[in-house]
Amino acid sequence: MNEDVDISVDFAGIRLANPVFTASGTCGYADELADFMDVNQLGGFITKSITLKPRKGNATPRIVETDSGMLNAIGLANIGLDAFVEEKLPILEKLSPAVFVNAAGLTIDEYVAVVKRLTGEKAISGFELNISCPNVAKGGISFGTEPTQVAEITSAVKSAAGEKILIVKLSPAVTDISVIARAAVDAGADALSLVNTIPAMAIDIETRKPVLANKTGGLSGPAIKPIAVYLVNKVYNEVAKDSEIPILGLGGIRTASDAIEFIIAGASAVAVGTANFIEPGCTPKIIEGIKRYCVRKEIQNIKELIGSLE
Ligand SMILES: Cc1cc2nc3c(=O)[nH]c(=O)nc-3n(C[C@H](O)[C@H](O)[C@H](O)COP(=O)(O)O)c2cc1C
Repeated sequence: MNEDVDISVDFAGIRLANPVFTASGTCGYADELADFMDVNQLGGFITKSITLKPRKGNATPRIVETDSGMLNAIGLANIGLDAFVEEKLPILEKLSPAVFVNAAGLTIDEYVAVVKRLTGEKAISGFELNISCPNVAKGGISFGTEPTQVAEITSAVKSAAGEKILIVKLSPAVTDISVIARAAVDAGADALSLVNTIPAMAIDIETRKPVLANKTGGLSGPAIKPIAVYLVNKVYNEVAKDSEIPILGLGGIRTASDAIEFIIAGASAVAVGTANFIEPGCTPKIIEGIKRYCVRKEIQNIKELIGSLE
């Protein structure tokens, strides 16, 4: 292996050792991954969505496997801000990857309160704003589908975040994702992540009932990858490239080849979600595979690859 290959990336002003993150909600608060891999190999880590108060989430069944993917309707189950600060922050403080806290809420004030409480924490590089969760009755995706709402919540949270980086996480379930991306960038987003899950449904034909207790859920995994690659490329061309806003690309990444597709499409970094449930230690292999690709293609610096679609 040619160690001269540089796969470190500049992501909204912070240096990542490599462009690979784990995606929110699929690796808890990092300690869950420790039995499977050295978390310090990652470029970045994103926590499960944190809300002001603990949430039990939706009734079960709340996950189901589908062809080349899965549906989930977890409904933002999490331990809440106080327990996060007390129990999980000390673990995250010891990590070398950049740590982002994914913030969620039912109201703008709730998002702001979560971010305000954490903005002074040295262990945290920034926040990922979940305005694209399809599995809650109030809040979630409803903040992320209308440009004026996106602008309002982004600007309120950016003011609360101070010097920390704000990534706004976009839903694929909109008419024109670039309009939403533009609203977030104009309101102060430092980076964009896309995509969250796609609203979807599975039906049990024997009972004629939806499989999920919540009736609908969010589709993730390899089934959504071509949609996510398309949307990353669209947002890169129409918004991110000219505004020099980095994209964190995700949706169905399982291998280094998948990650490289997203980078060529315009992502500066990538996140791996559902694949962690199939193979929890897959991210180090993806990082190695990206390096090997760069060596094979004589790419000295991964920067050359970002948005390099012919
Ligand atoms: C079980 C599960 C839980 C998730 N929880 C969250 C969450 O708490 N916050 C969030 O922003 N996204 C959440 N997501 C969405 C993922 O972070 C990611 O955007 C999506 O699954 C697409 O990537 P993937 O196909 O690699 O999984 C969750 C996804 C799954 C499958």
